[in-house]
Amino acid sequence: MIEANLTNLSQPVRLLFTGFLLVTLMGLYMAGFQIMETHGKADGQPGLSVNDIVYSYYGNRSGSKLESMLNGQMEPMAPDEVRFKLIQWAREGGSIKDWLPEIKPIMEQYCVSCHAEGASIPNFNQFENLQKVAQVDEGASIASLTRVSHIHLFGISFIFLFVGWIFGMANFPERWKIILIATPFVFLLLDVLSWWLTKYFPVFAWLTMLGGVGSSLASMIMIVTSLGQMWMWEFVEKRD
Ligand code: HEC
Repeated sequence: MIEANLTNLSQPVRLLFTGFLLVTLMGLYMAGFQIMETHGKADGQPGLSVNDIVYSYYGNRSGSKLESMLNGQMEPMAPDEVRFKLIQWAREGGSIKDWLPEIKPIMEQYCVSCHAEGASIPNFNQFENLQKVAQVDEGASIASLTRVSHIHLFGISFIFLFVGWIFGMANFPERWKIILIATPFVFLLLDVLSWWLTKYFPVFAWLTMLGGVGSSLASMIMIVTSLGQMWMWEFVEKRD
């Protein structure tokens, strides 16, 4: 029996593999676009950088938006002691307990002349709107990390399984085959692990970059090689 090989597949199987690999290749590009669209804009600059990853997973913990606005654009809107009081309140968590006795009167006196209902800026007559800007951005929540992690691990391992399986039938040096088939799985694990590490230690953001680049690169090589062998061989042989 001839061993299954990408150059001697029956036509239906070859089409099946080709369809799967082409769609997967497109999925990889889409995943790249999606990362640029979501994480890429996290730091306000176009393009994906380590900072984007830090903001997405670790957050921007230097302070709340309320605090940075009160020290910046909104500084002239209230006297210092009022601003300090608001900043203090935000740093202590922005609880509703102080809203009625202390915070709401400040809003009414200094802020809601502009921050009113119907304006394009947040309406500070409502506690929820002020609370939102008083919160420190802690990045990805545990709930969202758990959700995205398990979807990635289950879903992507299947993609790598089939891509690797098909590539396993290619004419390619055995040693490189082993490396290329193992690499995406290793980088997938590193990638997911790095999200959790970055959530707590922003220095690990570079590992996220490495994980994504590593697994896409290895899959790309496997996909292109497999497609090439399934279709190029045909032409080469027919020409001879
Ligand atoms: C004279 C009108 C005016 C007053 C008074 C005013 N603001 Fe603003 N505020 C604005 C405008 C306009 C923006 C939008 C600025 C921008 O996006 O560049 C803004 C934005 C903000 C933001 C950012 C909101 C977001 O989600 O982007 C915060 C926080 C804020 N103001 C807090 C305050 C506080 C607290 C007070 C009262 C001490 C106050 N502002 C008083 C006009 C005002």
